[in-house]
Amino acid sequence: MRDLFDKIYKDKGPLGKWADQAEGYFVFPKLEGPISNRMRFQGREVITWSINDYLGLANKDEIRKVDAEAAAAYGSAYPMGARMMSGHTDLHEQLQDELAQFVDKEAAYLLNFGYQGMVSTIDALVGKDDIIVYDVDAHACIIDGVRLHQGKRYTYRHNDIESIDKNLMRATKMAEKTGGGILLISEGVFGMRGEQGRLKEIVALKEKYNFRLFVDDAHGFGTLGKTGAGTGEEQGIQDQIDVYFATFAKSMASTGAFIAADQEIIDYLKYNLRSQMFAKSLQMQLVIGALKRLDMLRTMPELKEKLWENVNALQNGLRERGFDLGTTQSCVTPVYLKGSIPEAMALVKDLRENHGIFCSIVVYPVIPKGLILLRLIPTASHTMQDIEETLVAFSAIRERLENGTYKKISAAVAAAMGD
Ligand SMILES: Cc1ncc(COP(=O)(O)O)c(C=O)c1O
Repeated sequence: MRDLFDKIYKDKGPLGKWADQAEGYFVFPKLEGPISNRMRFQGREVITWSINDYLGLANKDEIRKVDAEAAAAYGSAYPMGARMMSGHTDLHEQLQDELAQFVDKEAAYLLNFGYQGMVSTIDALVGKDDIIVYDVDAHACIIDGVRLHQGKRYTYRHNDIESIDKNLMRATKMAEKTGGGILLISEGVFGMRGEQGRLKEIVALKEKYNFRLFVDDAHGFGTLGKTGAGTGEEQGIQDQIDVYFATFAKSMASTGAFIAADQEIIDYLKYNLRSQMFAKSLQMQLVIGALKRLDMLRTMPELKEKLWENVNALQNGLRERGFDLGTTQSCVTPVYLKGSIPEAMALVKDLRENHGIFCSIVVYPVIPKGLILLRLIPTASHTMQDIEETLVAFSAIRERLENGTYKKISAAVAAAMGD
């Protein structure tokens, strides 16, 4: 018999194995200073394109004031216990009511974290006879939720209606055997590539198949739709989403999340969501902070307008310069370049050290081999100056990528390291 930790000593996992070369710089970087369009990284000012503070709320004076006052009034303990036992308050209920109204659903329920909330909602919605149909590129929290499911599940090709149709047909046949129902899960906006889930076409399939739709709208809430109610509103099918989810971790610039649905469904989930029944309720300072943020979402449309002015300026500027932004239909701005992982590392270093640009980088195996994905998240707090500097920097790095500069740098680094 071997020691449980042997495998850990030998293999750090697909990401952990890069820790020696990547930690502190490419992963676990320390961004310092107040959350804003410009922060500090390793002593330098950088334009930050890697933070999902879409509406620029994180560091607004009025938000900071409300957060501080709530923390002073309640501390971080209150209320103690799970909602069901001793952690329930009027303000939790008020926030739920206001969220439900905002996303045009009968009722809502708060979740103390989006990730666990999604896992738990999937777990609560399906039993072993039910079938889950979901996107192959779904967020990790959806995959983990599906992992808990004891019945059948089918994945469909990413955002592909033909594949969705085919899998709904398979699921229907299976459900007829098991006597269960079907839950289809999609994201409203896919956070890596920025495409909107094809919700309108998915709900049209309700004519053909009997299924319920659960949408994780982490990136759509606050950024899409006339009022900011998200991807369902944007595509005109909000009423066809059976269970709607959004996190406070993005456009609300906080922590926490919620689900919204018909009253009877929320009443059921309230009594069956294990991540809420057996975990501490959302802290009061976060509840009060969320009420303030929601109020700003509702009453300050100029925040979303400014966000989209920046999104359009950045995306149009990049496209005019010939960059490939793939299929984005949201604020998420992916820039695809051709190159190896060592070239990508040299390129990101150049962006940060010489151009003061901080963005996320995604490489194989998350995307196909030979591609580099730089992911930019524009926010309402960016300025035209930030965008202009970034466009100039991107043209410069592309030239160096194409003329082999990064290949030479990475080869020299590899030689120096004795590879
Ligand atoms: C699509 C999606 N769903 C769920 C989550 C998890 O939300 P939270 O950060 O509130 O746990 C995230 C990340 O924040 C996300 O991008």
